[in-house]
Amino acid sequence: MKFSETIVDFQKTLERMPRPIGLVPTMGFLHEGHLALIRRAVCENKTVVVSIFVNPSQFSQGEDFKEYPRDIDSDMKLLESEGVDIVLAPSVDEMYPNGFDTYINIGNVARKLEGEHRLNHFDGVATIVCKLFNISNPDKAYFGKKDAQQCAVIKKLNTDLNLGVKIELVETVRDKDGLALSSRNIHLTESERRSALSINQALFSAVSVWRSGIKSSNHLVDVVREILERDTALGIDYVSIVDPKTFNILETAVDGSMICTAVRVGQIRLIDNAMFH
Ligand code: PAJ
Repeated sequence: MKFSETIVDFQKTLERMPRPIGLVPTMGFLHEGHLALIRRAVCENKTVVVSIFVNPSQFSQGEDFKEYPRDIDSDMKLLESEGVDIVLAPSVDEMYPNGFDTYINIGNVARKLEGEHRLNHFDGVATIVCKLFNISNPDKAYFGKKDAQQCAVIKKLNTDLNLGVKIELVETVRDKDGLALSSRNIHLTESERRSALSINQALFSAVSVWRSGIKSSNHLVDVVREILERDTALGIDYVSIVDPKTFNILETAVDGSMICTAVRVGQIRLIDNAMFH
């Protein structure tokens, strides 16, 4: 496995590698969720590239850019054992050199839910993903459905700017108790982690209520809110039912609609979603 900290060095190595190339963009501190993406990429490509970069432009002021967990040594061991070919782990200066001044502006799909609570977040995500696509020119790129709105944003970016990458989405990986894996879970205390379990329980309760025949979004959102509000350790940012492609809010949940939530647990903000089917 080759490790590159500069774009020039990375591209020199990549030049000699066979296609198809699969790219898995990450911010590191890898867990089984990331590994699910990487394993898919290893199965479907001759060359697999993983990027590790905590991207400052997708964190708003006051968010956890500095506190975001990092452990490059442990990440490298995991990636080596998964059969990854090249790791790109650039510095902030390498990706955003002095004078960098061009950002992608994502429209409607980025305006609601996460976009409303994290100013410019998706513009930062789209900018770095576009740069990574241009740097590595992959055939396929892999993203996790846990970040459902991010998936919709990347697909829109890829289509609207004719980037020509095949976007592959991978199911959310959960702990045995149902909590969606996230690098941020490391910061949860034991009791916060117990509280956080209500998030997926609430979402899946809404799905079973939907299956029983109740399709009104207001009703289904109330099911989730009631469960979350029972625990005073949880603060709700939003609970919304959307079309997973456009992220438009729906009044009625149909087959394939998605219920999404963002919840604050102590200092940590967690997101999760479930699909009605
Ligand atoms: P990061 O949070 O490190 O996640 C990297 C990829 O792993 C994303 O596509 C994310 O959706 C996926 N992922 C995270 N947890 C998952 C889980 N429990 N199950 C399945 N997939 C999971 O998302 C980012 O980084 C950044 O925004 C990035 C796309 C790298 C741009 O900076």
